[in-house]
Amino acid sequence: MNILGISFGKRMGNTDILVKQALYGAREAAPDAEIRFVNTVNMNIGRCRGCGACSRTLEKGGDNDCVFKDDFQKLEEEVRWADCIILGAPVYVLQPCGQFKDFVDRFSCRHDYSAITWVLDKRRSGEMPGDPDAFPMERLKKRYISYISVGGAVTNNWVSMGNATLHLFGFPPMMKVIGNYRANKMGTTANPILDAELMANIKEMGRQTAEAYGKKDENIKWFGEEGVCPVCHNNLLTVNGTTTVECPVCGIEGKLSVEGDKVHVTFSKEQQERARGTFKGLREHTTEIQSFGGICMPKIMANKEYLDREMDKFRKFEI
Ligand SMILES: Cc1cc2nc3c(=O)[nH]c(=O)nc-3n(C[C@H](O)[C@H](O)[C@H](O)COP(=O)(O)O)c2cc1C
Repeated sequence: MNILGISFGKRMGNTDILVKQALYGAREAAPDAEIRFVNTVNMNIGRCRGCGACSRTLEKGGDNDCVFKDDFQKLEEEVRWADCIILGAPVYVLQPCGQFKDFVDRFSCRHDYSAITWVLDKRRSGEMPGDPDAFPMERLKKRYISYISVGGAVTNNWVSMGNATLHLFGFPPMMKVIGNYRANKMGTTANPILDAELMANIKEMGRQTAEAYGKKDENIKWFGEEGVCPVCHNNLLTVNGTTTVECPVCGIEGKLSVEGDKVHVTFSKEQQERARGTFKGLREHTTEIQSFGGICMPKIMANKEYLDREMDKFRKFEI
């Protein structure tokens, strides 16, 4: 088994310490595992430029590598090597730091389980070029992950999107999430080593992440606090003025009810089964995206002259 710790924090900062502590726990559960730790702070990981080359090469029979070469590939290789992952990132302005998000933007569409298997099915049926068996399927192998969101603030509203955003790394390849730990209050803790309970919890999460390896999802227990959403365990909700609410991380609908000053949200089994990180949820999105061309192309063709004329105004942009 291969276990990987990734820290997006400063070298030997709070995130490094917590990710390494989780790896100590993982080591206890898996004495024979190979364990690696990567600090990313000095890595050069550029942003996704939206060129679409990864999707296009996949549809042309390639294996959808990112055409921009920098340290993204190094970190991606480490992730591909891993079976179990502990990923920690500091909160910068309410969310994980930008480098984490840049990595996720480039990682996610290249590892979308549904989009890739959709194309491979088309290759099998001959509708698309390329050998389905030549695709590097380890890109989509089953992985187990725990997240650690590290914030300085004592007040929760200053870390409000940290844990939820960390979740966005693992859902495209359907990684099984074991825990998502909120390590806040670093501004008053001074050093995580001084918080014995935090260190014990993080170690235990690392242990459980390694223990999950090879288990079926239904046999894996969530580590830590149960959140409002029964799938991602985050506490964010999108409201639209009715009692139907949505988990913005999983994209599933729940029913909200109020009893005195207590709020309950129930998510049906059917909704949970179409969460974003499930095959069903991902496939909904693949199907939607695949329909775009059929809608847009006729519109563009029907309005070609008008668009050419109007676009000129935006190309020249004289104001
Ligand atoms: C640019 C920047 C923005 C930050 N924004 C927040 C924030 O919104 N909320 C918070 O709780 N902490 C915030 N912090 C504090 C860090 O999350 C905290 O110091 C963390 O422990 C740093 O992790 P590290 O020691 O692993 O580098 C911010 C730090 C920096 C540098």
